[in-house]
Amino acid sequence: MDMDYKKYIADVPDFPEPGVMFRDISPLMCDGQAYAAATDEIAAYAKSKGTEMIVGPEARGFIVGCPVAYKLGVGFAPARKKGKLPRETVSVTYDLEYGQASLYMQTDAVRPGQKVLVVDDLMATGGTLAATIKLVEELGGIVVGTAFLIELTELGGRDKINEYDMFTLMKY
Ligand code: PRP
Ligand code: ADE
Repeated sequence: MDMDYKKYIADVPDFPEPGVMFRDISPLMCDGQAYAAATDEIAAYAKSKGTEMIVGPEARGFIVGCPVAYKLGVGFAPARKKGKLPRETVSVTYDLEYGQASLYMQTDAVRPGQKVLVVDDLMATGGTLAATIKLVEELGGIVVGTAFLIELTELGGRDKINEYDMFTLMKY
């Protein structure tokens, strides 16, 4: 289906700080047809890559990744922020525009050799994506592709992960 997804994105200037144009995916998620269409397109891509597992970073990666996993009949594993996961984890610390952040995955979330698709709502600098890929690979997973609703092209995130295939529904 040919859908004008940008119609469902709210552009919010100066959030969360001056100079940032925040691309809010909430209207897309609130519209059942648009949410289903986006899910179906990412699921078709995931299937074409032989995906066996979806991994998504907290929190918006869950909103996009979980319905794709359900559609495909595969599992979903979260990459979470500090202090959320109760059992043994691997972690990675990465640079944000200002400061640093960490992401964690439980060590049994991905099996060695499993084909993993990394899914999130949006790629900006690519830091979150690169960190999530690192965690999956540390657990022995094979990243077969990455998928987003939105790619912010000016921030050069694609350069951080140029050896991985990427599928996006919208570019800004
Ligand atoms: C946002 C977004 C991506 C990330 C993209 O998440 O959902 O995960 O930023 O930015 P990057 O490419 O520069 O790393 P955020 O950290 O705001 O968390 P949230 O999903 O919990 O809102
Ligand atoms: N995460 C990082 N940058 C963002 C932006 N401009 N809009 C929405 N989420 C973001």
